[in-house]
Amino acid sequence: MKKILVTGGAGYIGIHICLLLLEQEFDVVIVDSLTNSNENSIKRLFDYKNKNFDIKNSTLQFYKGDIRDLEFLRKVFLESRNSGNSIDNVIHLAGLKSVSQSIDFPGKYWEVNVYGTLQILKVMEEFECKNFVFSSSATIYSQMQESPLNENAQISPINPYGKTKATVEEILKDFSKNKKQFWNFISLRYFNPVGAHPSGMFGEDPIGIPNNLFPYICQVGSARRDTLSIFGNNWPTNDGTCIRDYIHIMDLADGHIAALNFLNGEIDKVGSFIAVNLGTGVGTSVLELVEIFEKVNKLKINTHFTSRRLGDKAVVYANPEMAHKVLNWTSKRNIEDMCRDAWNWQLKNPSGY
Ligand code: NAD
Ligand code: WQD
Repeated sequence: MKKILVTGGAGYIGIHICLLLLEQEFDVVIVDSLTNSNENSIKRLFDYKNKNFDIKNSTLQFYKGDIRDLEFLRKVFLESRNSGNSIDNVIHLAGLKSVSQSIDFPGKYWEVNVYGTLQILKVMEEFECKNFVFSSSATIYSQMQESPLNENAQISPINPYGKTKATVEEILKDFSKNKKQFWNFISLRYFNPVGAHPSGMFGEDPIGIPNNLFPYICQVGSARRDTLSIFGNNWPTNDGTCIRDYIHIMDLADGHIAALNFLNGEIDKVGSFIAVNLGTGVGTSVLELVEIFEKVNKLKINTHFTSRRLGDKAVVYANPEMAHKVLNWTSKRNIEDMCRDAWNWQLKNPSGY
């Protein structure tokens, strides 16, 4: 295992995974259309590599293009093969991720997230590349399932975004049963990835008004937004606000290295599919999070309560035991680390990349 294709590598999660891959001397090829990211993240990655990993034996390439474009994907794989260093693993993050946008534009979500994934699998098959790590989401679990959520909990997503993720998992399962073509698949079901690289050079940079809690808090902290709307104060939790399993982005990135090690490990998998939660197993309420953020970063976040957000659930957190058992991975960073690193990124990059 040496050369890893990271689709969506310019995005929030992808760039952090690439940092770790380069640090660990993997060769990295990034494919990204930059539809939801900024080329400056790639420029910074090259800079960071040159400054910090220049002694390391790893290479970095970036291709701007769309995963739905078969010829483009073929070119990427072919150039690597012709260089004598073929792509042997794929971490597939490229996709669209907004729940609300997926309700307004379902066709776009099915096309990019499902058709796009099929195109990658097609080219991987042509180039005999069989190890595939997929970015799935805790959002695929049924709303009726109680936390902690195990991997065998019922899958029943309620929005098009979640349905595309669950569908890709079904596709991977079907492919893994093909006796003629051996695939090794791991689907990582992320809970709530937050925070930033401790350098403050890389972090989450949403376009427009953030949908998610963490970037919103950061923008209120830096006075870019006036106040945080807390969606509901009458949920059946201790303080009435929703509980989630926030996971530090660097722990999440570590989980991908663990997944690669698993796929390329000693045990011959001969056609396998496994789904693994990446979460901490710790639930934190919105009010607890705001309080910790204020304390760690010594600032005030203005908040007010509004009505519940459609589709939200009171409590969501992972059972992370499978990741520990199968991948030998556990999260190392706590909520304080997430708050500190997210704020460090915000302070150093008030308008993002
Ligand atoms: P992101 O939007 O920051 O990154 C996704 C990247 O994919 C972007 O750089 C975007 O430009 C690229 N992209 C989109 N469509 C593309 C296409 N057709 N061809 C090539 N590139 C394309 O999102 P992220 O938070 O880094 O998420 C990465 C993956 O993880 C996504 O698949 C997402 O669904 C999944 N995920 C994210 C979260 C989360 O909370 N961030 C949680 C669970 C799962
Ligand atoms: C967290 C909590 C909100 C914003 C989403 C996707 C999920 C996955 C991760 C991709 C909730 C509350 C939020 C705000 C608030 N992404 N909140 N005010 O909804 O748990 O998960 O991101 O796969 O699919 O649905 O994350 O950050 O939006 O919300 O009170 O302005 O914060 O109600 O309880 P969520 P989030």
